[in-house]
Amino acid sequence: MKIGILTSGGDAPGMNAAIRSCVRSLIEFGHTPIGIRRGYQGLIDKDFIEMNLRSVANIIHRGGTVLKTSRYPDFKKADVRKCAYENLQAHHIERLIVIGGNGSYSGAKALYEEFGVISCGIPGTIDNDILGTEETIGFDTALNTAIDAIDKIRDTANSHERLFLVEVMGRDADDLPLAVALACGAEYPLIYKSDADLQEVHKRIQESLSKGKKSSIIVVAESSKVNALELLQHSLRHESLDYRACVLGHIQRGGAPSAKDRILASQMGYEASKNVSEIETFSCVVSDRRNISVLSYEDCKEVEAMNFQSFRELNDILSK
Ligand code: F6P
Repeated sequence: MKIGILTSGGDAPGMNAAIRSCVRSLIEFGHTPIGIRRGYQGLIDKDFIEMNLRSVANIIHRGGTVLKTSRYPDFKKADVRKCAYENLQAHHIERLIVIGGNGSYSGAKALYEEFGVISCGIPGTIDNDILGTEETIGFDTALNTAIDAIDKIRDTANSHERLFLVEVMGRDADDLPLAVALACGAEYPLIYKSDADLQEVHKRIQESLSKGKKSSIIVVAESSKVNALELLQHSLRHESLDYRACVLGHIQRGGAPSAKDRILASQMGYEASKNVSEIETFSCVVSDRRNISVLSYEDCKEVEAMNFQSFRELNDILSK
């Protein structure tokens, strides 16, 4: 089968590792991988390129996506999707692997519902906000990037005995800011839902000051609905507190993928490629690994450990 691969929406570190895995696994399973450049826009522009084992050499460690990506609001229009379908038909591309976030999944779902185009989604977004999967490709790297930045901010916060507000990406999902706050030992994460959340932050800051803590870091979750950082700054100005604000921004999306993201992307790409010709509806790769609990020593023996042996088999396929 000719299988199209596209990356769409915000790029995420590990997307290249996923593309590499898809291309090499699809070839292993006897399919022809077709790269579609610039996401859904490429379906309209017929920006198709046949890929081979060598097309994905030396990309596992690179951030971004070699297939490029785009936000393509026009894909919300039915006539644009019809054109995409016709282009797929004309080029005999039978199925798609879509690497991206919620917007990308919506596009794939619409293509299936309207024209029966079957695709397999691979969750690639730093936001970790995709249904069904515990972790998305890119989340771990973005987490580490944000941690690295905040560790540096902490040095200066500590030296100047200052309060720092640091905005972390995640759109309307809280996973990234919450994980960043936990891993950085930030004093408090602001997940703004109402003014009560702002008041809670004020309370925490005052408590810290009264305990003699002179420097604090408040992680502020970005939100598409309000500018939470701006709201917090506005309210702090009334308290004449000396603070500095920092927006981490798109550095969180770039950079070399972490080991965890490379492995997750490799495994997910393989699973998608193995199943894409068999699935009968729009389907998605999910992962579920973290379940932290306390067990008796005897019960521990029953728990299946992560199968590192399967890494060897996967590497045999992907290292070609
Ligand atoms: O979905 C990933 C993400 O980085 C969000 O965390 C953020 O809200 C958004 O994309 C930013 O998108 P853009 O790069 O299009 O401004």
